[in-house]
Amino acid sequence: MEKKKFYITTPIYYPSDKLHIGHTYCTVATDAMARYKRLAGYDVMFLTGTDEHGQKIEQKANEAGVSPQAFVDRIVEGPQGVKDLWKLMNISNDRFIRTTDDYHVAAVQRIFKKMYDNGDIYKGAYKGKYCTPCESFWTESQLVDGCCPDCGRPVVDAEEEAYFFRLSKYADRIRDLLENTDFLQPRSRVNEMVKNFIDPGLEDLCVSRTSFTWGIPVDFDPGHVVYVWVDALFNYATAMGYLNDKYDDYDHYWPADYHFVGKEIVRFHSIIWPAMLMSVGEPLPKHVFGHGWLLLDGGKMSKSKGNVVDPYILAEKFGVDALRFFLMRTFPFGSDGNFSNELLIQTINTDLANDLGNLVSRTTAMVGKYFGGTLPESCRTWAAPESFDTDLISMVSALRDTYEAQMEVCAPHNALAEVFKVIQRANKYIDETAPWALAKDMEANSARLAHVLYNLLEATRICGILLIPFMPESMEKLFRQIGASPEAQTWDSAKAWGTLPETTAVIKGENLFPRIDMDKALEELEAAAEAAKKAALPAIEVEPQLTEKVDFDTFCKSDFRAVKVKACENVKKSEKLLRFTLDDGTGTDRQILSGIAKWYKPEDLVGKTLVAIVNLPPRKMMGLESNGMLISAVHTEKGEEKLNLIMVDDSIPAGAKLC
Ligand code: MSP
Repeated sequence: MEKKKFYITTPIYYPSDKLHIGHTYCTVATDAMARYKRLAGYDVMFLTGTDEHGQKIEQKANEAGVSPQAFVDRIVEGPQGVKDLWKLMNISNDRFIRTTDDYHVAAVQRIFKKMYDNGDIYKGAYKGKYCTPCESFWTESQLVDGCCPDCGRPVVDAEEEAYFFRLSKYADRIRDLLENTDFLQPRSRVNEMVKNFIDPGLEDLCVSRTSFTWGIPVDFDPGHVVYVWVDALFNYATAMGYLNDKYDDYDHYWPADYHFVGKEIVRFHSIIWPAMLMSVGEPLPKHVFGHGWLLLDGGKMSKSKGNVVDPYILAEKFGVDALRFFLMRTFPFGSDGNFSNELLIQTINTDLANDLGNLVSRTTAMVGKYFGGTLPESCRTWAAPESFDTDLISMVSALRDTYEAQMEVCAPHNALAEVFKVIQRANKYIDETAPWALAKDMEANSARLAHVLYNLLEATRICGILLIPFMPESMEKLFRQIGASPEAQTWDSAKAWGTLPETTAVIKGENLFPRIDMDKALEELEAAAEAAKKAALPAIEVEPQLTEKVDFDTFCKSDFRAVKVKACENVKKSEKLLRFTLDDGTGTDRQILSGIAKWYKPEDLVGKTLVAIVNLPPRKMMGLESNGMLISAVHTEKGEEKLNLIMVDDSIPAGAKLC
């Protein structure tokens, strides 16, 4: 029988900065869903990629002094770039689209022309408000306190010749789509869209720009580039081969089953995207799911706030699977959730180390200890089951269905909650059956003990299967430990209690999820975040040069001389000051105080020839008089201030003038 297809996408990410844990959230959720569908036997297409055009990228590239293409190449393909992060997170995407890919560029030009030819795109003049960081146009009525309603930043007035898309024409059809179908999920997002955008009246959308060039050119009107959201949204279709020859899966996979997107881009996906598809006469995606945000201290994570959380640090410290699991288990998918390191560690310790880890290690250890790793024949059944036997078996046997029901409504957090209810039940079963007590009289109890342990292995196996989409690598290890062959890891077998052969060899392996020492880990995370912040700072920074001119005569009034250090010592009660006794060539010692104790030991400077300005008025510091100033070179290295005294050749006599 032909497999049913399932096409799911993440948003395509802006390669403007390194991605953070918030971006990882959406991609891990999509990956878990894609893996679940593959497990359940679907023919899955999972697409992700990068959204590389637009003014923001152009600006960032200019700031970095490189071409926009070189700029995005580094963030997409480079170390700790987008592709690298998805590899780290074990993301199983089938395809990756970059909107700078030639086939996409050519297809978008054809799409734009198609909408122009059918009268849905027309030329007009754009006057309005534009949010540069969000690449979004807004009408006056949409602004919040005069600022961008998405990011809260100021908007600018913009006026230029531009092409418009007749979004207004589709208002009724979009309202119907939102209100009368399950296109947009969760349902609460429908009300937001209708109230904020449809009810006030949909206006035509500006879909070209002339004020910058980093975009897909409108091929029939040079000077215009296609609005980045038109370019970006069509990725979902071009990556399957829509209006291009690169791929030919469009007829097979389109329409997409799910677009997973963050809540702030639901507007683009549930209003503009279906309207444009209606315009080109293509079927609409079946569902858009608008998930919530991961917040930090109640607010949005952003590079500009400097509060982003680095998935590389967390994955290295706790393992990729633990991180994936935490993201999906903790936060209800449709709502916002507050990220914290404490919560992450707590979840790992409670669910993974305590509940799941303990179940696996206790069960495998007991099979090893009491039966040498292999249970005897006929351990599968027991003639007179106790109520807790039937309770466990019926709960485990029903698990796949309850799990499936939650996954089908995009509630991975609830699906995981169901699995963990069963894991907790299985741990309770260990206490109820007390295998260690049975083992005291093996002659009498060996068959009963074998049955109890078989039940535990089966419960572990079935929970393991349903956890594959969330923790694929760890579940491979788990299956090895409980001796589950590939046939005992399938979706079908998750509903078939008793699949594990009775004489399977169990191996007590490494602890799958070691317990984490909270205080120690928090401290280490803080240090790692600090180090990462430092590493991201520029290697060398020097103060910008002054542009204000100083006239030559004024400059010549400063008297710079070579001076030799006769003595140098720390000033008492001062951490900063050194007291220099200098030979300045006049025959009288000169005293200068200098705040450089952080960089030099006094004894190292004796005998050196330095440069001082000697005609400054005297200044008192810590009760001592300073007559002049020593000249140093200063710069910053990785955020740390560095200072080097200017030392000149010792053959230069004391008092020599520098000019
Ligand atoms: N390029 C657009 C999407 C175009 S899709 C045709 C874009 N890119 S983005 O890089 O800014 O964001 C990508 C996704 O990451 C969005 O769905 C966004 O909601 C999500 N997240 C970014 N920060 C997030 C959190 N802190 N929490 C959860 N998701 C967040 O938008």
